[in-house]
Parts: sequence; structure tokens; C-alpha cells
Amino acid sequence: MTLPAETTGSGRTTASAVLDRCDELATHSSAPDGLIERVYLSPEHAAVNALAAGWMRDAGMTTWQDAAGNQCGRLEGATPGLPALLLGSHLDTVPSAGRYDGILGVLSAIAVVERIAAGGCSLPFALEVVAFGDEEGTRFGTALLGSRALAGTWLDAWWELTDDAGTTLHDAFTDFGLDPAAITAAARSSNDFVGYLEVHIEQGPVLEERDLPLGVVSSIAGARRFQITITGKAGHSGTPWSHRRDALAGASEAIVAIERLARDADLIATVGHLEVFPDAVNVIAGRAEFSLDLRGRFDADRDAVWQQIEAMLEEICAARGLHVAVHQTHAAPAAHCSDRLRGVIAAGIEVAGLEAASIRAAEDDEPDPAPEPVELLSMAGHDAMAVAHLTEIGMLFVRCAGGVSHHPDESVTEADVAQALDAFEAAVLALAAGSAAGSAADRAAEDSA
Ligand code: GLV
Ligand code: MN
Ligand code: MN
Repeated sequence: MTLPAETTGSGRTTASAVLDRCDELATHSSAPDGLIERVYLSPEHAAVNALAAGWMRDAGMTTWQDAAGNQCGRLEGATPGLPALLLGSHLDTVPSAGRYDGILGVLSAIAVVERIAAGGCSLPFALEVVAFGDEEGTRFGTALLGSRALAGTWLDAWWELTDDAGTTLHDAFTDFGLDPAAITAAARSSNDFVGYLEVHIEQGPVLEERDLPLGVVSSIAGARRFQITITGKAGHSGTPWSHRRDALAGASEAIVAIERLARDADLIATVGHLEVFPDAVNVIAGRAEFSLDLRGRFDADRDAVWQQIEAMLEEICAARGLHVAVHQTHAAPAAHCSDRLRGVIAAGIEVAGLEAASIRAAEDDEPDPAPEPVELLSMAGHDAMAVAHLTEIGMLFVRCAGGVSHHPDESVTEADVAQALDAFEAAVLALAAGSAAGSAADRAAEDSA
């Protein structure tokens, strides 16, 4: 196996090389002026898959693109054909994105496989890396398409989803060179995997506030998304109050009420998209369409607030002579990270923290002790939620500046990424050590039986 020039020469891809690769992927964008936008099944998606595949091969993996456009790689374990530990995240982005959401997770996974391959240690499981094609859901309105294909939870109803240009998901597949009829080939079985681990930027301020580079994810909040259409009557802006049925005024009242209902229940609600028809300065809005993304720690609380929101929409529209229609575009239940994988991530963070502390000790007479790993609830959605349908999941969060994400200002430090790579590698090795100890204990139990 030849090592790429940007490694340290020992197969240990550096944090600096990972960040350079993030910069390189950021250049594959459909947006002008240096902004980043890369949606599912676009030419930019094909380009980043090709780059990731090359890096996977450099790391010693065999590669393939699956039937949903996810880029995959595999490094065999101690014997060929073992179930795999799956490592991954996504390469698609929101509009005006940062360069690390999803991308850092894919590139960290490749770097860790490269380290393990170069170290020559044979694990009691194979390692697979997956770069999912769609986590954000910005092109077709429903999220996690790549990871749901792998999890075998693809819905045929999705084929008719359209993007802003009117292209169906079905046609986007064929344009990308994929065969919609073959989608089930992307589905993997629970028996294929021993677990799934994902590195991701925190997308929240907690690690920064606690002055910690890394954290263990406890669970991922469930989300539901809706398209809400309020219809009134378009007409001249001179129409008197008694005769107006203004869809935008109704939508505005509803959006403020949604914020209040969600806030009172300690949930998060975001209306990030609003369109008005016919959209003219001197015409009353006849129709307003807006999105709603509703999230909470517990699915039952979130669903109860959605019922309150539906009742409130009916009430506001009845009072204003408007009509409301709602359409759910996405639903993902909350996902819990398993105790076992939370344990290996915490162990990895401790190993990386001790290494960092010993480096500080060499430089400083009174270094801070390595802190205990903290657990965090993720309010952002992740591919892990879909993969949880197949196998147990664990996630490692990396501090990001100000908790800012889904914005060009997304930022991480090289030192934090270096610790994340060390922690992720140590977590994989801790799981391997646990599996080996587990199988030795199983064999001993079998022998004595
Ligand atoms: C993706 O980042 C999401 O949380 O929706
Ligand atoms: Mn995101
Ligand atoms: Mn993400």
C-alpha cells in the first residue's frame, strides 16, 4: 500500500491533512462567490464521491458506490468477510454551508482507517467507511435519504418527490447514473455490522462553554418536518379590511404562535422557508407556503406540541377566513446511543485527553488534568439516526467555534481535530479489545461447557 504524501509518513493522516481535504471538498459547490452548496445526486456530489473514493483506496480500502449514491470503502479484519464496524457521515450540504458539517466525519473515518491499516493490526471486525449522499434533505425535502437506503427503510413514495426545478427523485437517480429499480441493493443487514460510529461537529455551544474539545453524544433528538400552505384570496392592496383574506398575515401570526408553543414546551421549532404568491408589492398574498422543522428530546412531547400547532393553525385560519393544509415531509424518531458505544467513545476521549495532557506536561510545569468526558444531547439530526434501525450507534462531537453551523462561519481548530482523530482511533481499538475479550470469554465458556 502506498501512503499519500500528506500523511506524516507513518500512515497517520494528520489533522492538518484532514482540514486540507475539507477545504478541497468545499471547492465542489454549485453556488457562486465561494459559497458552498452541494446537494444529493448533483455533479458536485459525483465529484466529491470520486475524491473520497481515492482517499479510501489510499487508506487501503476497497471501494464502491452503492445503489443510492453513497460512497463506501472496506478494510478487512483478521479474516476476510467479518461483520464490520461502520464509520461515516455525509458529504451533502445545506445552502451557504460551512465546510465541516458531515464532511469532517467522513474524512476522520478515512484517516482512522488509514492509521489502523498502516499500523498493521488486524481487528476482530472489518472496518467500513460510508460517505452518505443525503443527510440534509435540502434537495428533495426529506432528509437522510442516503442512510435510509443503507438501513433498508427507503419508501417508494419518495420517487415522486421533486426538487425546486421540478426534477423527480426518480429522474435524478437516472441522471446520476443510478438505477431506481436497484435501490434495495443499497440496503444492508444487521448481520453486516457490529456497530456504527460517527464523528461530527457539535453544532451547539456546550463544548466551547465548558472549554472541552470533545464530547460523547447520549442521544439524538427526533425531528418532524412539514410543509404548511395557507390559502386566502389575492387582490388589490387597496381592498378594505372587511374584505381581505390575507394569507401572509395569517402565516405570520401562525409562525409567531409556533415559536411560543415550542418554546413553552422546551422544544425547538424552525420556520426556515417562506414563499408568498403572487409575491407583488401591491397585491394581497393569496397563498403563503412555509416549512416547519420541529425537534425535541422525546418524540411524545414533540408530537403533543404538533397537535397544539395544528389546532392553533385551524383557529387562526378560521378567524381570518383562510384555509390551511399541512403535509409532513420528514419524520425521524429520537435515537439513543448505546451504552457500549458511548463507553468506547468516552474511553477514546480519555486516551486522547491523556496524550494531550502529557504533551502539555512536557511543555508546562503545571498542566491541567485531562477532564472527564461529558455527554451531550444532539438537537441536530445525523445519519446515525437512520443507521440505528440496523445496528447500535455511537457519536463523538468536536467543538466548533461559537456552536455555529449551517453557515459559512463554521470553524474547528487543528488541535481539536487532532484530538478527535486520536480519540476516534482509540475508540475503535477499545471496541476491538472489548470484542476480542468478549470472544475469548465466549470460547472459554464453550470449552468449559
Ligand atoms: C441536519 O443538520 C439537521 O439537523 O437537520
Ligand atoms: Mn447539517
Ligand atoms: Mn450533519
